[in-house]
Amino acid sequence: MKAVQLHEYGGPEKLMYEDVPTPEPGPDEVMLRVISTSVNPVDFKIRKGELKAHMPVQFPVILGRDVAGEVVRVGLDVTRWKRGDLLMGLVNRSYAEFLTARADALARIPEGLDPKDAGALPLILETGAQLIEKGIQPHAGETILVTGAAGSVGRAAVYVAKQHGAHVIAGVRGSQKAEMQGAGADSVVALDDDAEIAGLPELDAIADTVGGETIMKVIPKLKKSGRIASVVGKPEAPGIDVRAVWAQPDPERLYKLAEDVRDGRLTIPVSKRMRLEDIREAHKAAEHNAGGKIELLP
Ligand SMILES: NC(=O)c1ccc[n+]([C@@H]2O[C@H](COP(=O)([O-])OP(=O)(O)OC[C@H]3O[C@@H](n4cnc5c(N)ncnc54)[C@H](OP(=O)(O)O)[C@@H]3O)[C@@H](O)[C@H]2O)c1
Repeated sequence: MKAVQLHEYGGPEKLMYEDVPTPEPGPDEVMLRVISTSVNPVDFKIRKGELKAHMPVQFPVILGRDVAGEVVRVGLDVTRWKRGDLLMGLVNRSYAEFLTARADALARIPEGLDPKDAGALPLILETGAQLIEKGIQPHAGETILVTGAAGSVGRAAVYVAKQHGAHVIAGVRGSQKAEMQGAGADSVVALDDDAEIAGLPELDAIADTVGGETIMKVIPKLKKSGRIASVVGKPEAPGIDVRAVWAQPDPERLYKLAEDVRDGRLTIPVSKRMRLEDIREAHKAAEHNAGGKIELLP
Protein backbone atom coordinates (compact mmCIF):
# COMPACT_ATOMS: atom_id res chain seq x y z
CA MET A 1 0.00 0.00 0.00
CA LYS A 2 0.97 3.66 -0.20
CA ALA A 3 1.68 5.62 2.96
CA VAL A 4 3.54 8.71 4.06
CA GLN A 5 6.62 7.82 6.07
CA LEU A 6 9.02 10.00 7.99
CA HIS A 7 12.59 8.62 8.00
CA GLU A 8 14.19 11.47 9.97
CA TYR A 9 13.22 14.74 11.65
CA GLY A 10 13.12 17.85 9.50
CA GLY A 11 11.08 19.96 7.08
CA PRO A 12 8.10 18.88 4.96
CA GLU A 13 10.54 17.45 2.37
CA LYS A 14 11.25 14.63 4.84
CA LEU A 15 7.72 13.26 4.31
CA MET A 16 7.96 10.39 1.80
CA TYR A 17 4.89 9.06 -0.05
CA GLU A 18 6.00 5.50 -0.74
CA ASP A 19 5.20 1.78 -0.74
CA VAL A 20 5.05 0.08 2.65
CA PRO A 21 3.78 -3.33 3.82
CA THR A 22 0.02 -3.48 4.39
CA PRO A 23 -0.70 -4.05 8.12
CA GLU A 24 -2.52 -7.13 9.47
CA PRO A 25 -5.19 -6.73 12.17
CA GLY A 26 -4.52 -8.29 15.57
CA PRO A 27 -7.32 -10.23 17.40
CA ASP A 28 -8.89 -7.09 18.93
CA GLU A 29 -8.30 -4.85 15.92
CA VAL A 30 -10.00 -3.94 12.67
CA MET A 31 -8.38 -3.07 9.39
CA LEU A 32 -9.73 0.07 7.75
CA ARG A 33 -9.44 1.38 4.22
CA VAL A 34 -8.75 5.03 4.93
CA ILE A 35 -11.28 7.36 3.31
CA SER A 36 -9.91 10.50 4.96
CA THR A 37 -7.48 11.71 7.58
CA SER A 38 -6.26 15.22 8.41
CA VAL A 39 -3.26 17.28 9.42
CA ASN A 40 -2.97 18.11 13.12
CA PRO A 41 -0.33 20.34 14.74
CA VAL A 42 1.06 17.25 16.53
CA ASP A 43 2.00 15.82 13.10
CA PHE A 44 4.28 18.69 12.17
CA LYS A 45 5.59 19.04 15.74
CA ILE A 46 6.68 15.37 15.57
CA ARG A 47 8.09 15.86 12.05
CA LYS A 48 10.23 18.77 13.23
CA GLY A 49 11.51 16.83 16.26
CA GLU A 50 9.87 19.23 18.72
CA LEU A 51 8.35 16.36 20.72
CA LYS A 52 11.50 14.19 20.81
CA ALA A 53 11.69 14.24 24.60
CA HIS A 54 8.00 13.69 25.13
CA MET A 55 7.00 11.36 22.27
CA PRO A 56 10.10 9.73 20.80
CA VAL A 57 9.45 7.89 17.53
CA GLN A 58 11.12 4.92 15.86
CA PHE A 59 11.97 5.61 12.23
CA PRO A 60 10.55 5.07 9.72
CA VAL A 61 7.21 6.15 11.16
CA ILE A 62 3.81 6.71 9.56
CA LEU A 63 2.26 9.85 11.07
CA GLY A 64 -1.44 10.74 11.37
CA ARG A 65 -3.96 10.54 14.24
CA ASP A 66 -7.38 10.86 12.59
CA VAL A 67 -9.28 8.37 10.52
CA ALA A 68 -12.57 7.91 8.75
CA GLY A 69 -12.63 4.64 6.88
CA GLU A 70 -14.37 1.46 5.82
CA VAL A 71 -13.84 -1.85 7.63
CA VAL A 72 -12.18 -4.35 5.27
CA ARG A 73 -11.20 -7.01 7.85
CA VAL A 74 -11.94 -7.72 11.49
CA GLY A 75 -9.69 -9.45 14.05
CA LEU A 76 -10.71 -12.85 15.49
CA ASP A 77 -12.11 -11.43 18.75
CA VAL A 78 -13.98 -8.46 17.26
CA THR A 79 -17.76 -8.77 17.38
CA ARG A 80 -18.93 -5.16 17.34
CA TRP A 81 -17.93 -4.31 13.73
CA LYS A 82 -18.21 -6.04 10.36
CA ARG A 83 -16.87 -5.58 6.85
CA GLY A 84 -18.31 -2.50 5.17
CA ASP A 85 -18.98 -0.52 8.38
CA LEU A 86 -18.00 3.15 8.13
CA LEU A 87 -16.04 4.14 11.24
CA MET A 88 -14.07 7.07 12.61
CA GLY A 89 -11.59 7.46 15.44
CA LEU A 90 -8.43 8.64 17.12
CA VAL A 91 -5.73 6.23 15.92
CA ASN A 92 -2.10 6.09 14.82
CA ARG A 93 -0.49 5.72 11.37
CA SER A 94 -3.40 7.20 9.41
CA TYR A 95 -1.35 8.85 6.62
CA ALA A 96 -1.88 5.64 4.66
CA GLU A 97 -4.26 3.72 2.40
CA PHE A 98 -4.97 1.16 5.15
CA LEU A 99 -4.44 0.97 8.89
CA THR A 100 -5.24 -1.28 11.82
CA ALA A 101 -6.72 0.06 15.06
CA ARG A 102 -8.28 -1.24 18.26
CA ALA A 103 -11.94 -1.97 17.63
CA ASP A 104 -12.91 -0.23 20.89
CA ALA A 105 -11.27 3.07 19.84
CA LEU A 106 -13.65 3.52 16.91
CA ALA A 107 -17.13 4.99 16.49
CA ARG A 108 -19.62 4.67 13.67
CA ILE A 109 -19.67 7.71 11.36
CA PRO A 110 -23.06 9.32 11.98
CA GLU A 111 -25.47 8.77 9.09
CA GLY A 112 -25.44 11.84 6.85
CA LEU A 113 -21.94 13.03 7.80
CA ASP A 114 -19.66 12.85 4.74
CA PRO A 115 -16.85 10.38 5.58
CA LYS A 116 -14.46 12.73 3.77
CA ASP A 117 -15.25 15.34 6.45
CA ALA A 118 -15.40 12.83 9.34
CA GLY A 119 -11.64 12.24 9.04
CA ALA A 120 -10.95 15.81 10.15
CA LEU A 121 -12.77 15.44 13.46
CA PRO A 122 -11.62 12.74 15.93
CA LEU A 123 -8.54 14.29 17.55
CA ILE A 124 -9.87 17.83 17.79
CA LEU A 125 -13.34 16.86 19.05
CA GLU A 126 -12.04 14.41 21.65
CA THR A 127 -9.37 16.87 22.80
CA GLY A 128 -11.80 19.78 23.10
CA ALA A 129 -14.26 17.62 25.06
CA GLN A 130 -11.59 16.18 27.38
CA LEU A 131 -10.05 19.61 27.99
CA ILE A 132 -13.40 20.71 29.42
CA GLU A 133 -14.88 17.51 30.89
CA LYS A 134 -11.72 15.95 32.37
CA GLY A 135 -9.55 19.03 32.74
CA ILE A 136 -11.93 21.76 33.91
CA GLN A 137 -15.00 19.78 35.07
CA PRO A 138 -17.21 22.88 34.90
CA HIS A 139 -20.24 23.74 37.00
CA ALA A 140 -23.16 25.61 35.45
CA GLY A 141 -22.72 29.37 35.65
CA GLU A 142 -18.93 29.34 36.02
CA THR A 143 -16.95 31.77 33.89
CA ILE A 144 -14.44 29.98 31.68
CA LEU A 145 -11.94 31.51 29.28
CA VAL A 146 -10.96 29.29 26.32
CA THR A 147 -7.67 30.41 24.74
CA GLY A 148 -7.18 29.80 21.01
CA ALA A 149 -10.97 29.62 20.70
CA ALA A 150 -10.87 30.21 16.92
CA GLY A 151 -8.84 27.01 16.46
CA SER A 152 -10.29 23.54 15.98
CA VAL A 153 -9.73 22.29 19.55
CA GLY A 154 -10.76 25.71 20.90
CA ARG A 155 -14.08 25.67 19.03
CA ALA A 156 -14.87 22.20 20.32
CA ALA A 157 -13.96 23.30 23.87
CA VAL A 158 -16.21 26.38 23.68
CA TYR A 159 -19.09 24.20 22.48
CA VAL A 160 -18.65 21.58 25.21
CA ALA A 161 -18.26 24.20 27.95
CA LYS A 162 -21.54 25.81 26.81
CA GLN A 163 -23.21 22.36 26.91
CA HIS A 164 -22.28 22.27 30.61
CA GLY A 165 -23.93 25.63 31.23
CA ALA A 166 -20.74 27.66 31.68
CA HIS A 167 -20.40 31.33 30.80
CA VAL A 168 -17.77 31.06 28.08
CA ILE A 169 -15.34 33.74 26.93
CA ALA A 170 -13.60 33.00 23.62
CA GLY A 171 -9.98 34.19 23.75
CA VAL A 172 -8.72 34.81 20.19
CA ARG A 173 -6.38 37.02 18.18
CA GLY A 174 -7.71 40.54 17.46
CA SER A 175 -7.80 39.60 13.76
CA GLN A 176 -10.18 36.69 14.55
CA LYS A 177 -12.66 38.65 16.67
CA ALA A 178 -15.21 39.52 13.99
CA GLU A 179 -15.34 35.93 12.69
CA MET A 180 -15.87 34.57 16.21
CA GLN A 181 -18.81 36.83 17.13
CA GLY A 182 -21.88 34.59 17.11
CA ALA A 183 -19.79 31.39 17.06
CA GLY A 184 -21.22 30.12 20.33
CA ALA A 185 -19.30 31.88 23.12
CA ASP A 186 -20.95 34.46 25.38
CA SER A 187 -18.25 37.01 24.56
CA VAL A 188 -15.05 37.28 22.52
CA VAL A 189 -11.82 38.84 23.77
CA ALA A 190 -8.60 39.66 21.89
CA LEU A 191 -5.74 38.09 23.84
CA ASP A 192 -3.16 40.14 21.91
CA ASP A 193 -4.68 43.33 23.36
CA ASP A 194 -3.54 44.07 26.92
CA ALA A 195 -6.46 46.45 27.50
CA GLU A 196 -8.94 43.69 26.63
CA ILE A 197 -7.15 41.28 28.97
CA ALA A 198 -7.33 43.90 31.74
CA GLY A 199 -11.09 44.14 31.12
CA LEU A 200 -11.70 40.40 31.59
CA PRO A 201 -13.97 39.48 34.54
CA GLU A 202 -12.70 37.26 37.35
CA LEU A 203 -12.37 33.73 35.90
CA ASP A 204 -13.30 30.42 37.51
CA ALA A 205 -11.21 28.48 34.99
CA ILE A 206 -9.00 28.75 31.93
CA ALA A 207 -9.12 26.06 29.22
CA ASP A 208 -5.87 26.60 27.36
CA THR A 209 -4.95 25.60 23.80
CA VAL A 210 -2.21 28.22 23.24
CA GLY A 211 0.21 28.27 26.21
CA GLY A 212 3.31 30.50 26.16
CA GLU A 213 3.09 34.19 27.01
CA THR A 214 -0.64 34.25 26.35
CA ILE A 215 -1.57 31.93 29.21
CA MET A 216 0.83 33.78 31.54
CA LYS A 217 -0.94 37.07 30.75
CA VAL A 218 -4.40 35.76 31.64
CA ILE A 219 -3.51 33.78 34.79
CA PRO A 220 -3.78 36.95 36.99
CA LYS A 221 -7.48 37.14 36.05
CA LEU A 222 -8.12 33.73 37.64
CA LYS A 223 -9.89 33.53 41.04
CA LYS A 224 -7.66 32.30 43.89
CA SER A 225 -9.58 29.03 43.86
CA GLY A 226 -9.55 28.92 40.06
CA ARG A 227 -8.19 26.15 37.89
CA ILE A 228 -6.37 25.73 34.59
CA ALA A 229 -6.40 22.84 32.16
CA SER A 230 -4.16 22.87 29.11
CA VAL A 231 -3.61 20.71 26.03
CA VAL A 232 -0.19 22.27 25.39
CA GLY A 233 1.57 21.40 28.67
CA LYS A 234 1.36 22.81 32.18
CA PRO A 235 2.08 26.52 32.59
CA GLU A 236 4.10 27.70 35.61
CA ALA A 237 1.37 28.77 38.03
CA PRO A 238 2.39 28.21 41.65
CA GLY A 239 -0.52 27.58 44.00
CA ILE A 240 -3.02 27.03 41.19
CA ASP A 241 -4.69 23.73 40.27
CA VAL A 242 -3.17 23.08 36.82
CA ARG A 243 -3.96 19.97 34.78
CA ALA A 244 -2.36 18.80 31.54
CA VAL A 245 -4.79 16.99 29.24
CA TRP A 246 -3.65 14.45 26.63
CA ALA A 247 -6.36 13.17 24.33
CA GLN A 248 -7.49 9.55 24.67
CA PRO A 249 -9.90 7.68 22.40
CA ASP A 250 -13.49 8.16 23.56
CA PRO A 251 -15.67 6.85 20.73
CA GLU A 252 -19.00 7.53 22.45
CA ARG A 253 -18.23 11.20 23.01
CA LEU A 254 -16.81 11.43 19.50
CA TYR A 255 -20.00 10.04 17.97
CA LYS A 256 -22.20 12.57 19.82
CA LEU A 257 -20.02 15.54 18.87
CA ALA A 258 -19.77 14.34 15.25
CA GLU A 259 -23.60 14.35 15.18
CA ASP A 260 -23.49 17.96 16.40
CA VAL A 261 -21.10 18.83 13.54
CA ARG A 262 -23.36 17.04 11.04
CA ASP A 263 -26.39 18.95 12.30
CA GLY A 264 -24.63 22.33 12.23
CA ARG A 265 -24.71 22.91 16.01
CA LEU A 266 -20.89 22.88 16.08
CA THR A 267 -18.84 24.29 13.20
CA ILE A 268 -15.28 23.14 12.54
CA PRO A 269 -14.02 25.05 9.49
CA VAL A 270 -12.25 23.10 6.75
CA SER A 271 -9.76 25.08 4.70
CA LYS A 272 -8.74 22.49 2.12
CA ARG A 273 -9.18 18.93 0.93
CA MET A 274 -5.94 17.53 -0.52
CA ARG A 275 -4.54 14.26 -1.83
CA LEU A 276 -2.42 12.32 0.67
CA GLU A 277 0.40 12.28 -1.87
CA ASP A 278 0.49 16.10 -1.61
CA ILE A 279 1.37 15.80 2.08
CA ARG A 280 4.36 18.15 1.86
CA GLU A 281 2.15 20.97 0.55
CA ALA A 282 -0.46 20.09 3.17
CA HIS A 283 2.06 20.41 6.01
CA LYS A 284 3.36 23.73 4.64
CA ALA A 285 -0.20 25.07 4.47
CA ALA A 286 -1.09 23.81 7.95
CA GLU A 287 2.01 25.40 9.47
CA HIS A 288 1.23 28.72 7.83
CA ASN A 289 -2.15 29.32 9.29
CA ALA A 290 -4.43 27.45 6.90
CA GLY A 291 -7.48 28.85 8.73
CA GLY A 292 -9.18 25.48 9.19
CA LYS A 293 -8.65 21.75 8.99
CA ILE A 294 -6.81 20.24 6.04
CA GLU A 295 -8.47 16.97 5.02
CA LEU A 296 -6.27 14.36 3.35
CA LEU A 297 -7.66 11.73 0.99
CA PRO A 298 -5.50 8.70 0.08
N1 LIG B 1 -2.83 17.49 24.41
C1 LIG B 1 -3.40 16.91 23.36
O1 LIG B 1 -3.78 15.73 23.40
C2 LIG B 1 -3.62 17.73 22.12
C3 LIG B 1 -4.51 17.26 21.14
C4 LIG B 1 -4.77 18.06 20.03
C5 LIG B 1 -4.13 19.30 19.89
N2 LIG B 1 -3.23 19.68 20.84
C6 LIG B 1 -2.54 20.97 20.70
O2 LIG B 1 -3.52 22.01 20.82
C7 LIG B 1 -3.12 23.13 20.06
C8 LIG B 1 -4.29 23.58 19.17
O3 LIG B 1 -4.57 22.58 18.22
P1 LIG B 1 -5.62 22.86 17.05
O4 LIG B 1 -5.75 21.63 16.26
O5 LIG B 1 -6.83 23.53 17.61
O6 LIG B 1 -4.81 23.96 16.19
P2 LIG B 1 -5.40 25.17 15.34
O7 LIG B 1 -6.69 24.77 14.70
O8 LIG B 1 -4.28 25.68 14.50
O9 LIG B 1 -5.78 26.26 16.43
C9 LIG B 1 -4.89 27.03 17.14
C10 LIG B 1 -5.58 28.39 17.30
O10 LIG B 1 -4.92 29.15 18.30
C11 LIG B 1 -4.73 30.45 17.76
N3 LIG B 1 -3.64 31.11 18.46
C12 LIG B 1 -2.31 30.80 18.40
N4 LIG B 1 -1.62 31.64 19.20
C13 LIG B 1 -2.54 32.48 19.76
C14 LIG B 1 -2.46 33.56 20.68
N5 LIG B 1 -1.27 33.94 21.16
N6 LIG B 1 -3.59 34.18 21.06
C15 LIG B 1 -4.81 33.78 20.57
N7 LIG B 1 -4.96 32.77 19.69
C16 LIG B 1 -3.83 32.13 19.30
C17 LIG B 1 -4.45 30.20 16.31
O11 LIG B 1 -4.53 31.37 15.52
P3 LIG B 1 -3.61 31.49 14.21
O12 LIG B 1 -4.10 30.41 13.30
O13 LIG B 1 -3.85 32.86 13.74
O14 LIG B 1 -2.20 31.24 14.68
C18 LIG B 1 -5.54 29.20 16.00
O15 LIG B 1 -6.79 29.84 15.80
C19 LIG B 1 -1.88 22.69 19.25
O16 LIG B 1 -0.72 23.15 19.91
C20 LIG B 1 -1.94 21.17 19.32
O17 LIG B 1 -0.69 20.55 19.18
C21 LIG B 1 -2.98 18.94 21.94
